Amino acid sequence: MADEPKTHAPETPAVPAVAAKPAAAKPAAILDNDTKLAGRTTSPAARVAKEAPAGEDDSSPLMGRRGWMGLAWGAFTAANAGCLAATGRFMFPNVLNEPPTQFTVGFPADYGVGVDERFKDTRGVWIVRTENDYAHEVPGFYALFSICTHLGCTPNWLSAENKFKCPCHGSGFRPTGINFEGPAPRPLERTRIALAEDGQILIDKGVKFQEELGAWTNPDSFLPL
Ligand code: FES
Repeated sequence: MADEPKTHAPETPAVPAVAAKPAAAKPAAILDNDTKLAGRTTSPAARVAKEAPAGEDDSSPLMGRRGWMGLAWGAFTAANAGCLAATGRFMFPNVLNEPPTQFTVGFPADYGVGVDERFKDTRGVWIVRTENDYAHEVPGFYALFSICTHLGCTPNWLSAENKFKCPCHGSGFRPTGINFEGPAPRPLERTRIALAEDGQILIDKGVKFQEELGAWTNPDSFLPL
């Protein structure tokens, strides 16, 4: 038998094998996203919480729980101290031991005519007995504040010169209290004067009478006797 001619399919040329490419490295940002997706968060707050010692679960990056507790206790202690101080001030208030404005200075018979200085230092007044008052024109008593009407110094009584003389700027006052020399702009002031129930002379420094206001004619400014 004759051999049948063989039909050969054209041979496909051999394709050279291509070497597998190594996987390209992914950028860092893509890796981070992948990591997050995998449930492994790497944010700064999470890292602080992760690295915090056991027992400190505050996620604040600035102050831990102990810091806030200390601050709260400090404020609480300061508030309590303030309350205690206020209570102390309430329990022990400042007391002003001012002398009373009303007081007695003895009986009229204890006084001679003229200026009496017994109560100048302790009570701040002169008691004056006159035979003919400047304002009332009858015998009796009046009391003068021992305060200069210029700037408040205490004048001296100069019996030899029959006048009050201020040592500060030289103002002079008559026994009546009328100013006549120096810078004092007005007379000395008189206090209220009366007789107490026991017959003593009562002085009330809570009430003053000014001559320039016409107050020396007030009956309470003079004790006729
Ligand atoms: S205070 Fe008395 S004259 Fe000035």
